[in-house]
Amino acid sequence: MSKNVIFCFSGSGNCLDIAKNIAKELKDTDIVMMRSEPVVTDVTGAERVGFVVPCFAGGLPGEVEEYVKKIKVSPKAYTFGVASYSGYMGIGLSVINKYIPLLYWAGISHHCSCIWLLPHNLTMPPLSVEKSQERSEKLAKKVAQDVLAKKFKKLAPPANPLNVIESKAWGKLCPEKAAKMRVNEQCIGCGQCAKLCPRGNIRIENGKASIGTDCIQCLSCLQFCPTQAIDLGGASVKRQRYHNIKITPDELCEKLIHID
Ligand SMILES: Cc1cc2nc3c(=O)[nH]c(=O)nc-3n(C[C@H](O)[C@H](O)[C@H](O)COP(=O)(O)O)c2cc1C
Repeated sequence: MSKNVIFCFSGSGNCLDIAKNIAKELKDTDIVMMRSEPVVTDVTGAERVGFVVPCFAGGLPGEVEEYVKKIKVSPKAYTFGVASYSGYMGIGLSVINKYIPLLYWAGISHHCSCIWLLPHNLTMPPLSVEKSQERSEKLAKKVAQDVLAKKFKKLAPPANPLNVIESKAWGKLCPEKAAKMRVNEQCIGCGQCAKLCPRGNIRIENGKASIGTDCIQCLSCLQFCPTQAIDLGGASVKRQRYHNIKITPDELCEKLIHID
């Protein structure tokens, strides 16, 4: 067991990049991915335990809440949470805090991966992908320094009722969005989407990707597709794709990443 453990969910790579940047400063850190069932849940031997998660519809993505319920942390451990978001932090960290009290909270905004809702470059203030990345790296470094110093920062905003409603509604909306996932004629059957899908929901049939309905809308398949062959209908067809410029599809498929 490493001295530090960071549990992370990431769809388009922003959270994995933040987790890696924090880990590089902390050193001796395991990043345990929560895109699917985490491979490690008993981290009672870790001195620092953190969570880096994106805001999805005001709350947590996928099965993250269920996974968090299974994680065992020493009562002596220093705990922290970082939410990545494009417009607002949401209630994700408050939800994690119900199961694992967090001593330090932070939010880091980045480009938006929710392609059907907003173009990714609609940031406040407007920033290029490179500038946004630079800002995210700077903030991750600051978080890491605070975490190394075991600073206490109870920034917990009270759970915004709008975010509570939004994240509940997401339970219904997500399957509707999932049903709209389409593969167009640009598909070359490379299989990257199938490899990336955390639910095993994509198969290659007759040289083309075929998407089922068990989808949590992480959008890794759509954002990382090398030929932009996946869309969600409507606005997403013409919108530019986005994924974090520092994260490769192979890294996103890892279950555990150790950083010395
Ligand atoms: C399905 C979905 C829902 C999202 N909902 C929100 C939201 O409610 N508020 C927000 O500020 N950003 C929202 N976003 C944007 C992400 O939180 C943001 O892009 C984050 O950095 C993505 O992290 P990742 O690349 O690690 O997945 C959403 C993204 C997706 C894919």
